[in-house]
Amino acid sequence: MRRPMVAGNWKMNGSRAESAALVDGIVQGMGSVTKAEVVLCPPYILIPLVAEKLAGRHDIPWGGQNLDTHVSGAYTGEVSGPMLKDFGCTYVIIGHSERRTYYHEDDGLVAEKFGAAHAAGLTPILCIGETLEEREAGQTEAVVARQLDAVLAAHGIDGFKNAVLAYEPVWAIGTGKTATPEQAQEVHRFIRGKLAAKDGKVADNLRILYGGSVKGSNAKELFGQADIDGGLIGGASLKAEEFLTICRAAE
Ligand code: PGA
Repeated sequence: MRRPMVAGNWKMNGSRAESAALVDGIVQGMGSVTKAEVVLCPPYILIPLVAEKLAGRHDIPWGGQNLDTHVSGAYTGEVSGPMLKDFGCTYVIIGHSERRTYYHEDDGLVAEKFGAAHAAGLTPILCIGETLEEREAGQTEAVVARQLDAVLAAHGIDGFKNAVLAYEPVWAIGTGKTATPEQAQEVHRFIRGKLAAKDGKVADNLRILYGGSVKGSNAKELFGQADIDGGLIGGASLKAEEFLTICRAAE
């Protein structure tokens, strides 16, 4: 059985005080979350604060939102996988659509970052998804297949033994426009089927999260779909109560 997972992607949000209050609020409500794995992905600079607050607990792992492919050196402004690991990260988000769009990360670089995560002992949360134009042109499956193929070509199906996927239709991210549970399930089924053609067991064990305007009010229906194993949550992960409602919906 795949353990459900809910990961909070804070994006570039939060002061120290706000973040501390957010973590406290989530910790206080964890008693009501019995099954889902709850993961927090703060901005780099807030990782030490989150790590300090969660030290000694084993129920809330944390991770980065990005990493550089290099281990160390003259790469001004970048943060490496080993640095994330040093601060206790377990996970790292790779290939988020905002990285792909605003920072021009292409499929090849995303595949490299996927490998860099593994090399550092981190579990990549690989994001894939189509834009509105691509969906309207009937290219959804072709786009997610292309994004997956780049990683498969570089790392093989074995690369997915220790990974999490997040299907995030770009048109649903931060827009309030959620994919319907049926729309999301259709793509999730396609993704799992594509990977199952390479290795049924790896595909069966792989957690595929849905992301894009998930809220307390729509999470249950989305997570109720056969191939949706939880969510990657942006805006709604910044409010403890709302985020906890989503975590409970994944049980
Ligand atoms: P959203 O973001 O929940 O604010 O739509 C999701 C994401 O980008 O991971």
